[in-house]
Amino acid sequence: MLKFLILNGPNLNLLGRREPAVYGAATLPMIMRAARAHAARAGVSVDHRQYNDEGDLVTAIGWAGKRYDGIVMNPGAFTHTSVAVRDAIQGCGAPVVEIHLSNIHAREAFRHVSITAPACVGQIMGFGAAGYNLAIDALAGHLIAKNGGRDMPGRPGPVIKVGAKRR
Ligand code: DQA
Repeated sequence: MLKFLILNGPNLNLLGRREPAVYGAATLPMIMRAARAHAARAGVSVDHRQYNDEGDLVTAIGWAGKRYDGIVMNPGAFTHTSVAVRDAIQGCGAPVVEIHLSNIHAREAFRHVSITAPACVGQIMGFGAAGYNLAIDALAGHLIAKNGGRDMPGRPGPVIKVGAKRR
């Protein structure tokens, strides 16, 4: 079974009451419950952590790279500011999919640049909470493709080793 970590950055703990017109009405626990259920249906196990501090996020990316097959991350505002988060993604050894609830390109100019996205395998944005589910599917698809298109354990098809880290 593939193991993913979902990492959420600063202020995402405020979802539900934080600018609902931009980010929606669902709280982070609600969104993570839905993402976990979605992942389980796809045969993927998911853990979740949220950090407001840049250093905590950097540390988490580092350890997660050794423990998980991949990371789904919403770096929040660090997307636009943090070379340290980008370097952690680059160096962690696991593929990372960046996700944003909002379409950052349709917002203020300072949100148009993602410092972190170039270190990721891809980016999903603008689909609200459903973006986490899309990111899980994209990351699983990426890992399957890296394995030559073969399927994962728990699904029909040849069993492959998914523990090895791939980018
Ligand atoms: C965000 C977009 C960022 O610009 C912002 O700082 C956030 C949330 C999003 O999910 O849309 O905190 O990452």
